[in-house]
Amino acid sequence: MKQIVINGGKKLQGTVRISGAKNAAVAIIPAVILSDGICRIENIPNIMDVNLIANILHEMGARINRINKTTLEIDPSPIRRPVANYDIVRKMRASCYLLGALLGKFSYAEVALPGGCDFGVRPIDQHLKGFGILGAEHNVVGGMICVKADHLTGGHVYLDVVSVGATVNIMLAAVKAEGRTIIENAAKEPHIVDLANFLNSMGADIRGAGTDVIKINGVKYLSGTTYSIIPDQIEAGTYMVAAAATDGDVVISNVITKHLESITAKLREMGVCVEENEDSVHVYRKGALKRCNVKTMPHPGFPTDMQPQIAVLLSMAEGTSIVTEAVWDNRFRYVEELKRMGAVISVDGKVAVIEGVKELNGAPVKATDLRAGAAMIIAALAANGVTHIEDIEHIERGYEDVVEKFGGLGADIRIVYTDDGIVQRA
Ligand code: EPU
Repeated sequence: MKQIVINGGKKLQGTVRISGAKNAAVAIIPAVILSDGICRIENIPNIMDVNLIANILHEMGARINRINKTTLEIDPSPIRRPVANYDIVRKMRASCYLLGALLGKFSYAEVALPGGCDFGVRPIDQHLKGFGILGAEHNVVGGMICVKADHLTGGHVYLDVVSVGATVNIMLAAVKAEGRTIIENAAKEPHIVDLANFLNSMGADIRGAGTDVIKINGVKYLSGTTYSIIPDQIEAGTYMVAAAATDGDVVISNVITKHLESITAKLREMGVCVEENEDSVHVYRKGALKRCNVKTMPHPGFPTDMQPQIAVLLSMAEGTSIVTEAVWDNRFRYVEELKRMGAVISVDGKVAVIEGVKELNGAPVKATDLRAGAAMIIAALAANGVTHIEDIEHIERGYEDVVEKFGGLGADIRIVYTDDGIVQRA
């Protein structure tokens, strides 16, 4: 078993380079299935979720050539059977994008029901509603979702909830459908825009991505392309918060500052200095952290994927802060872990009330999911003493070289291998 062990209390200093966006990569790689040529994708983060989705394509027959750590060349032409079974898809949520991509290419898809982070019910009714409007029927047999259409035709889809996954899946299914598809109340996240840009670079006709109305005119043919994925908004936000939590002085490079605006605004409200440059942000503090309230919202609101990390910072701010989780039903499971480090937080449903404390103290804790794991790292970096973080495979799903990157900023952080829970010092 692996743990991350952190000896806290060191101010982070220096520059960290942000990797490609996980949630763009896990949409763009399945989207390659739609291509009639070979695609070269650059700036792919080398993380578990992305390697899993690339493996799924490989197991389905795609030829994948790793050019270097961050570049893959994918030839989807050998894929003949639009089926992804449970063994290969159960570990990740984004495998449901195979439904849209395979349906768009073959008018048929059979994909096992997805897994992923556990923060409450994760329905896909809006994805299926969209497929239905494009003319596909679905049924569930033996844990597999099967969607099929005689002929996909464009349609008008109004999403009842703003859903990243449904927006991605409907775009994928519609891109080669006959006629025009309109998605209203679409998600506006940066990775939605990145996916649309990728598809357009292959010859798709998608307009409006980044607004709440996306218009897709179906095309018959999509050529191969070379495309570079955007930097990861949430990885950048995580390092920004870590810099503030440790009273450090960090330049976070290779970012799109516009994507970070909601995070920057909250940090400034807490008294943190954030200087924006062309493709970097410089984060440091001039005094104590101030309390504030945070409510998660779809983009351009404050991202739910930054909620656990900002809660750590608020737990060290002066006064009482309120965090409202408005996207997921159950995204406060990490709070019990944070309380082990001395945080004072009470949760009632989707609301957490955080009483700031002067300091956190090291403790054995668990990463209850990916972003919760990132929050534990931040808490441990800021805490007095040593923290052991278990279940770090969640963190490895989404953060490239996390130990090396924090180590490069001066953190005392390492991975240790344990045997039956007994820690072996590395
Ligand atoms: N929802 C429905 N019906 C649906 C789809 C969604 O009711 O058919 C609800 C969900 O239950 C949730 C809300 O809509 O309450 C938003 O869900 P969404 O579909 O937007 O989430 P997702 O596509 O499953 C992606 C990210 C998550 C991120 C959310 C919200 C990927 C692979 N995952 O999930 O990222 O939290 O959007 O921004 O893009 C992470 O990276 O740590 C992560 C969990």
